[in-house]
Amino acid sequence: MDRADSASAIALFTRSFGGVPAVVASAPGRVNIIGEHTDYNGGEVLPIAIERRTWVALGPSMRHMSRAVSGSEQLEGQFDPRVPTRSGQWWDYVSGVSARFAARGAMVPALDIAVVSDVPVAAGLSSSAAIAVAMGAALASLSGFELSMREIALLAHDVETNFVGVSCGIMDQFASALARRRHALHLLCDSSVTHQTPLEESILIFDTAVSRSLRGSAFNDRRRQCNEALALLRRQHPNLDALAHATPDMVRRAGLPTPLDRRALHVVEETRRVRQVVQALEQTAELPGDVLLASHASLRDLYECSSAELDWFVERVMGSAGVRGARLTGAGWGGCAIAVGSRAALDAAAPAVSADYTQAFGRTARTWITTAQDGAAIHLG
Ligand code: GLA
Repeated sequence: MDRADSASAIALFTRSFGGVPAVVASAPGRVNIIGEHTDYNGGEVLPIAIERRTWVALGPSMRHMSRAVSGSEQLEGQFDPRVPTRSGQWWDYVSGVSARFAARGAMVPALDIAVVSDVPVAAGLSSSAAIAVAMGAALASLSGFELSMREIALLAHDVETNFVGVSCGIMDQFASALARRRHALHLLCDSSVTHQTPLEESILIFDTAVSRSLRGSAFNDRRRQCNEALALLRRQHPNLDALAHATPDMVRRAGLPTPLDRRALHVVEETRRVRQVVQALEQTAELPGDVLLASHASLRDLYECSSAELDWFVERVMGSAGVRGARLTGAGWGGCAIAVGSRAALDAAAPAVSADYTQAFGRTARTWITTAQDGAAIHLG
């Protein structure tokens, strides 16, 4: 959908159900600046919320069942918010969040729900976190059940992992719920402590249009390998409680079988790179391009989650004047990459690189230039 906002969410609600919604809430997609595949290893991440959001308009329904419609594709769903069943459809996020509220003792009536979004789906920009967090914020407001944004993020993560069945880390939901305009969210995933790090720069997002699914086995494979690496390291270091807490030296000396050695080295070095970037931002207010490039190389060579398209982008965009750094972002295996540099450099690079990309791969990339935006918000209710 081209434009999603409060007005289009209310308009869809009125068209679909009549009347006006009791609550409107929104939550953004996210892009990660650095710290990839560290969140589920107790490491650090540094995402921002982007300029694309998902809007949820809802109100109590006269019907027995809850009914949800989505503006972008005119999808519809029906479910009992107290006894939801998983359908494999987009409204699993909506019904999963309702069920979690009901399970906590919130009074959740049958609902009419309208959803509009301009967060691209399956591009690696966390469209699923955006809908779950927006729904959580909307329901908290409607039911008067007091939940902080942090609790909404945890609830949305619980829905993603235990209801929808995608075993992701906590980065996406925290970014969507807690990010702040002109700041990156420095999240310590072992304790879920957050700090806001000032970030004024523009970021170029390049969607390779190779969609990847976290339900795919590669992501779960990596998680398993990280758990195995941790178990082996613990034989030598019994007090090690998370893979990201190991040092590069510990990993190098451990004699882990391959590819566990490469996976573990990526995780421990990547979490250090997050700290380097936070420090650079604090000292110079500029993202250090070389650290972003090192992250990409590590994801490509050690974690092996890049793709020909993502590698091509990083190399090509670095040839553009004024671009300082680039890397794949999100899970990898397709999806999006980012580049940093002056706004003028990014403006010039985006169309030129996209045209060359179509020549090289026969695919049409989508590009956006974003700055750091606010996380979830209630607009009505
Ligand atoms: C996906 C997951 C996140 C995180 C990234 C990789 O986006 O949803 O939790 O693990 O991959 O950094």
